[in-house]
Amino acid sequence: MEITFHNELDIPGGTDAFVLLCSQAEGLPEEGAIAKLDESFDGRLSALVQRKGFKGKKGQEIVLCTLGRLDCTELCLVGTGKELASAADWLLLGRSIGSKAARATWSSVALQAVRESLDPRFLEPLLRGLLEARYRFRKHASADEEDPPDSGFEAIRLLGVPEAARSDSESSLSLVREMYEAVSWCRDLVNEPPSRCTPTYLAAESDKMARERGLESKVLGREACEALGMGLFLAVARGSAEPPAFIHLSSLPTYSRGPKVVLVGKGITFDSGGLSLKTAEGMKEMKSDMAGGATVLAVMSLLPSLGLSLEVHGLVPACENMPSDRSYKLGDVLRGLDGPSVEVVNTDAEGRLVLADGLAYARRLGGTVLIDVATLTGACVVALGEHTAGLFGNDDILARTMLESATKTGESLFRLPLSSELDEQLKSPVADCKNSGGRWGGAITAALFLKRFVKDTPWLHLDIAGPAYRDKGGGGLGQGATGFGVATLTRFLLDLDRSSQTVESGASTQGETRDPRGGGAR
Ligand code: BES
Ligand code: MN
Ligand code: ZN
Repeated sequence: MEITFHNELDIPGGTDAFVLLCSQAEGLPEEGAIAKLDESFDGRLSALVQRKGFKGKKGQEIVLCTLGRLDCTELCLVGTGKELASAADWLLLGRSIGSKAARATWSSVALQAVRESLDPRFLEPLLRGLLEARYRFRKHASADEEDPPDSGFEAIRLLGVPEAARSDSESSLSLVREMYEAVSWCRDLVNEPPSRCTPTYLAAESDKMARERGLESKVLGREACEALGMGLFLAVARGSAEPPAFIHLSSLPTYSRGPKVVLVGKGITFDSGGLSLKTAEGMKEMKSDMAGGATVLAVMSLLPSLGLSLEVHGLVPACENMPSDRSYKLGDVLRGLDGPSVEVVNTDAEGRLVLADGLAYARRLGGTVLIDVATLTGACVVALGEHTAGLFGNDDILARTMLESATKTGESLFRLPLSSELDEQLKSPVADCKNSGGRWGGAITAALFLKRFVKDTPWLHLDIAGPAYRDKGGGGLGQGATGFGVATLTRFLLDLDRSSQTVESGASTQGETRDPRGGGAR
């Protein structure tokens, strides 16, 4: 797939569709590109635009066959509304054009904005949306002529991006291409049926990726985890015949500087709830309970080509949560690698247990910035809906940096509080804490549980239970896994790397000896 720049209205040969983005404020149809195109249509284009009442409103569109009057098969006018002011707007626009392209089987498109040029700041989310909308997971379906497997775009041509902005954009174009690969891989892993995508499968896929990309890779099996004392992770794994796998990937630059970042992704390859069994309805999407883990693996896969100076580790405690005669039980008291003892009051609150051992392992590695990503609570979906992830953290600067990264990628993230009043809900009569704080504030008490295991290490927690997976398609994204978080976490690492370099080049202290509290984010 190629992405190239061209001059205004300079449509390269072999283009299936020329998509013209028309905003509402532009006095259509007399002005700008439409007026110029009108010549090729003997004035009939502006007449059509007028007759259809096309004003560039959001959702308005006109698609017409050019019958050879332009160097493309179809011309598509898309209304973008009054203002596209944020990356999120551009991401959604990209998705809607991308899904239109999939339906119309356009494999090469040229894009131009009327009068105004495509804003280089927003090219990245626009292109990401465009590409992601064409993703399909059809590998287990028989070939269907009605719905041919999607092969993505052959070419995307960007018309009218100012000369000065192009060179900057070149590097972001290669990032866009690699990001698309990584996001699609993440979605494939999540969409794969759970009896295939077992912890063993996840570890093998991760290992294969690490070999191809040149990352260090280590997988700890049951015995190795036992020897370390990962009692929380292993308790969850116990009910299943599938062996658990604790995945550890590392990206170690020759000369690393800045904070040592450890990403931890929840890797429950199927969450039945265990003995606190879910309902059939509640279990339906639970193959997606390793989405956080898949996000971490995808971000790790991008690191070798980003060339950061940060040392980054990716951990995925992967297992199934199943009921059986060997399952962990309600009333059990568990001890993990480090941190408080835990009374099990609900075996469906398993994510926080595997993450707790992941976070303790991250601290042992000497991580100075810990970030976990997890489909952790239904309560977070109740609070924020299906499109927004919850952000928690004990470090305001890191949290702000993450929110800014999300603003740049167009993914929706909202910070929720670690309300200390709710900590009482985790009190246990027999252990240091319980694994569930009950109904109220469920996303918060889950985060408060994790907080006990990170202690004072700077830490962020992303609850992606809502946006990671879609029951039904819509808004330009198909049914199933979304790959949520890959773009934002990658952006975050890029931003953290850049700021830790500028801080360090001006500071007298070097590398490891610096204030470890995520100093790079300052
Ligand atoms: N994996 C679920 C959370 C989830 C729910 C993800 C819906 C995606 C969609 C998690 O393990 C879970 O079961 N959480 C419980 C916690 C409760 C028992 C304290 C929940 O949210 O009900
Ligand atoms: Mn659960
Ligand atoms: Zn779960």
